[in-house]
Amino acid sequence: MSINIEKKKNIVQGNCSVKTRWYKDAIFYQIYPRSFQDSNNDGIGDIRGIIQRLDYIKELGITAVWLSPVYKTPNDDNGYDISDYRDINPEFGTLEDWKEMIKGLHERGIRLVMDLVVNHTSDEHNWFCESRSSKDNPYRDYYIWRKGSGNDGKKPPNNWTSRFTGSAWKYDSVTDEWYLHLFSEKQPDLNWANPKVRKEVIDICNYWFELGVDGFRCDVITYISKADGLPDGKGRFAVRGDEHFVLEPKIHQYLQEVSAKSWSNYDSMIVGEAIGVNAENAEIIIKEDLNELDTAITFALSEVDMFAGLIPKKLKLPKFKKIQSSWQCLPNDCWPTLYYENHDQPRSISRYGNADGIYKKELAKMLAISLLTLKGTPYIYQGQEIGMTNIRLEENEYMDIMSIRVFRAVRKYFPPLILVAKKIMRKRARDNARSPMQWSAESGAGFSNETPWMKINPNHAFVNVEMQLKNPSSVLNFYKKLIEFRNNDETIKYGEFKEYFPRNSSLYVFTRELKKQRYIVICNFKEKVVNLNAIDISARGAKLVLSNYPNSQETFTDGMTLRPYEAVIYHDYI
Ligand code: NOJ
Repeated sequence: MSINIEKKKNIVQGNCSVKTRWYKDAIFYQIYPRSFQDSNNDGIGDIRGIIQRLDYIKELGITAVWLSPVYKTPNDDNGYDISDYRDINPEFGTLEDWKEMIKGLHERGIRLVMDLVVNHTSDEHNWFCESRSSKDNPYRDYYIWRKGSGNDGKKPPNNWTSRFTGSAWKYDSVTDEWYLHLFSEKQPDLNWANPKVRKEVIDICNYWFELGVDGFRCDVITYISKADGLPDGKGRFAVRGDEHFVLEPKIHQYLQEVSAKSWSNYDSMIVGEAIGVNAENAEIIIKEDLNELDTAITFALSEVDMFAGLIPKKLKLPKFKKIQSSWQCLPNDCWPTLYYENHDQPRSISRYGNADGIYKKELAKMLAISLLTLKGTPYIYQGQEIGMTNIRLEENEYMDIMSIRVFRAVRKYFPPLILVAKKIMRKRARDNARSPMQWSAESGAGFSNETPWMKINPNHAFVNVEMQLKNPSSVLNFYKKLIEFRNNDETIKYGEFKEYFPRNSSLYVFTRELKKQRYIVICNFKEKVVNLNAIDISARGAKLVLSNYPNSQETFTDGMTLRPYEAVIYHDYI
């Protein structure tokens, strides 16, 4: 299938545009370009590197790519700080390279969704350079500037904290005012209350749509609207102020405006990184007829094994299942997103099981089944398909701004806790997901022939694409099989979901049903043998379709025994 780019623009009739909702059938692969493939041996992944790997992505069965930012950037937050929205980071290549990449994707029937980072820009963006230059500059109101507080006006305007530690305000002596930055001080927040800012965002989106992109993943989009008066927040130290900018009511008006003037005029998919959205409130922002977001990347699941999103704790399966299942029960016009990993999350096999144990392959495959048999749009993050694990780093090897700041803050304010911080960061740091892709056992892992920008996981000697392609029972070949199964099966994509034994703390058991077809999925999340009295499912005689062991029980029985991390899919007619 090759996508005809010319036909993608919708026919808009009055207010009602036609979106094909192609994303409901898609399986996404997320590329973090810096770490994917280096083509020019500077140790940094790039667009021509992606071009070299398009066939790999196609053969995996992927039908859409989410590409993390490739725009011009000073790289304070690895591209999530953009200094030119219409051009490419020279480390990654040129716009011509990008055009070749999208052509290659479309020729292979793969859509491209770009990252849209418009809660903030880089402080090196021209808008900000103008804005900070004087109070009456036409760009002044593109950002959020305030006078200092306190008797002497020397304190930040309010008590909000940056998600990267410290105050969310930075004093700027040029005009004797402070600007808001919910991330680093090099990422000033845009002022969405200014219609000119919204117009800029619309123009940027249309620019990329005209170049052929199929949609956007909108970075921290639920932060874009700030409460009038910017009142002090309550909240915890690291996230103070949230109640005044997470899902603040005007966000709906802003999203609808961008949608009407851009997103809805193309056959696009808009997925929001949506802090604050969960299955209970999803319909206020992703219900289709609202024309706001199409789907949302949410966080409840990623916090089941992390306290405050940072401190690792034991995975409680019933809670995990409750979150997944609650999304499954929403109507089809509130479409779920399915993911375990991305560039901000540690590797799933390291967090949900024993990634160093003898059953690590079964674990990786079980997790794949538990994700890819649910309703929603699945995202596979580069390396997940070969079972890449967290990486062991020394303090000076962490590259992520967040990790560097955490270590800096601990060393400054709580030095006795440095060992605890190291332990936490080993499990929690975003760096875990950012180590270079492991293509081969060679010294540069087939990623680069030069010193890579970030340490390569030494386990690339035995966890790599090249070896797994040759091994029929590898995690990679299992992913291929499972993806093919999903791509060709309407029941798995759209079937009704029913959960069994929700309080069982070892097994995730559910069925998917459509037009008399039924699949029964059982996933053992424990590294031990678990018995199940399955009589309630009434599926005696159902036939095995897929499993992560070579010799799983061929026929479903009322008493089932699951081996460590065993996962099985049975089929019957009802
Ligand atoms: C979310 C992105 O995924 C993350 O990597 C980034 O640091 C923040 N947004 C700020 O843009």
